[in-house]
Amino acid sequence: MAAHSMAKLNHWNSTWTLDEAQCPCDLHFLDYLAEQRVSGRNIFHMGTGVHHIVGLKTADAGRNNQVLAITASRDEYTAYIDLLIDDPRLGFSYKAYFGDLYQSDARMLPALDYVTLFHAGEYRTAENDSYGALTDEQVGLIFAEKLNPGGEILFYTGSFAYDVAGRVGAALMAKRGFADAGRYKSLHVFKKPG
Ligand SMILES: C[S@@+](CC[C@H](N)C(=O)[O-])C[C@H]1O[C@@H](n2cnc3c(N)ncnc32)[C@H](O)[C@@H]1O
Repeated sequence: MAAHSMAKLNHWNSTWTLDEAQCPCDLHFLDYLAEQRVSGRNIFHMGTGVHHIVGLKTADAGRNNQVLAITASRDEYTAYIDLLIDDPRLGFSYKAYFGDLYQSDARMLPALDYVTLFHAGEYRTAENDSYGALTDEQVGLIFAEKLNPGGEILFYTGSFAYDVAGRVGAALMAKRGFADAGRYKSLHVFKKPG
């Protein structure tokens, strides 16, 4: 019988409530979508928070945008299950799943127009290495591949690991021809050519 690894998933044994003063990235992303009048687009969102504000507000906005989001927190995932049970309409436009972003696989992702990697590098540790998880740059390149031409990857400049995000952005430009599309509030936008 094959030996089983003893490694455990590097999940987030915590939960995050909305706190605009400390972490406004989700709210700024919603402002960005609203200001640009984005409609009919596919969004991948890293880090739901227990508030699930990106999925909820996007559904409410009625602009036919879709959100697929990941959380590494059991509590945040449970919160999504409760939200969906109480409001099944949410399921048409907002799906959240539990997992480690660093196990992403292009074959399991849809074509996308916006990808938020707001927490890139924040929780990527040796624990992820113990089960062969991807690096931040590898994850960035997978999402770059899934982006439609002209699609965008956004980072959060207020992240304590923004230096990691900056290196991923540089790799997107050097290896995939992305353009630095500048800042919007606390966000940094990189645009795929096309
Ligand atoms: C500090 S909270 C911020 C939540 C929300 N974006 C906000 O600003 O209010 C970090 C979020 O990133 C998620 N996260 C961190 N590392 C992750 C990983 N490796 N895979 C998936 N989600 C991750 C956590 O589950 C959590 O939702």
